[in-house]
Amino acid sequence: MQGELSPIDRAKFAAAKRSCAFVESGMRVGLGTGSTAAWMVRGLGERVREEGLKIRGVPTSSRTAALAREMGIEVVTLDEARWLDVTIDGADEFDADLNLIKGGGGAHLQEKIVATASDQMIVIADPAKEVAHLGAFPLPLEVIPFGLNATRALVEEALESLDVFGRETVLRMDGDTPFVTDEGNHVLDLHLKRIGNPRQLSLVVNQIPGVVENGLFIDICDVVVIGEGDGRVEVRDINAGTITHDRVEIPENDNLFSDI
Ligand code: A5P
Repeated sequence: MQGELSPIDRAKFAAAKRSCAFVESGMRVGLGTGSTAAWMVRGLGERVREEGLKIRGVPTSSRTAALAREMGIEVVTLDEARWLDVTIDGADEFDADLNLIKGGGGAHLQEKIVATASDQMIVIADPAKEVAHLGAFPLPLEVIPFGLNATRALVEEALESLDVFGRETVLRMDGDTPFVTDEGNHVLDLHLKRIGNPRQLSLVVNQIPGVVENGLFIDICDVVVIGEGDGRVEVRDINAGTITHDRVEIPENDNLFSDI
């Protein structure tokens, strides 16, 4: 990675760095996917190398697994870990109830399995991820390649009766071919603009046989850590009903990139 960090990247760094303080030796930690989560993996790697922090990490994608190993974190499967103390991950959107849209990176299936097998899920985000209503970010659906067009037609039919503002479905591409997830599936991005009832929508689309999982995380996230470009951090705990403020030091770019 090269070049100046944008304010958004500095905000992601701040949130990720603060989230590393939730992790203690002996913990089994779910490691999220995406640019914010990558800073968290680097931060935990630094603690492993410099403080002797002893953790086992369960990655939520092949990309995160490779980065965690590179950073010196012991990587185990979810079945080896059995249950996790905490999962730390990014999000594409979060609302006031800490319900989320995830899957912009196409990893929401593993992310949801890992987060729901954890005592606590902590989301790390920049302020732009906070929304009054979910749905401006396209909702990813992981779908089985077999019968893709039939599944897509059923999804579009289901959307007709749901409280959404837009109903366009787009097959995610990777160049000229459909994007393929770590599980060998494809992703349909639903351009809904605004989701009136996320809980209902999640249940309805997951009833369609070719749909493996959608990117709505309802009642899964416990804490959100929101970073700002100047190093200020807000920590909201939905269960404790607390909001605390903090500050993390953002090193100069040269130091930030030294271990990457
Ligand atoms: C990966 O599939 C996603 O759920 C990411 O966690 C989400 O897209 C956030 O990514 P960034 O941290 O890169 O914004």
